[in-house]
Amino acid sequence: MEPLGIEVDAPANETVMDAVVAHGFFWPVGCAKNGECTNCAMEVLSGIGRLSAMGRYERQNLLRQRGQRSVEDPRLRLACQARVQGDIVVYKSGVRPDTL
Ligand code: FES
Repeated sequence: MEPLGIEVDAPANETVMDAVVAHGFFWPVGCAKNGECTNCAMEVLSGIGRLSAMGRYERQNLLRQRGQRSVEDPRLRLACQARVQGDIVVYKSGVRPDTL
């Protein structure tokens, strides 16, 4: 994952966020990780087809909070909703080692 340059293993169907957090990192959130706030949005640099498909609720909230272009770009996904189904590379600023 970029820009930290870290690599984590994830069980199949774990969310991207949970996989990274399980390895001791903080991921910015603004809701109960239920797809509502879109603060966790990430850019998928590669492997977009190895993530679970975008659900209606994720799409609705991206559209409502980030505008039409956000749903036209398939690389933008919510890390609390997108589930890992293979190797991917994502970019998210604000992810950092959770030292608290
Ligand atoms: S943490 Fe709120 S939408 Fe993902």
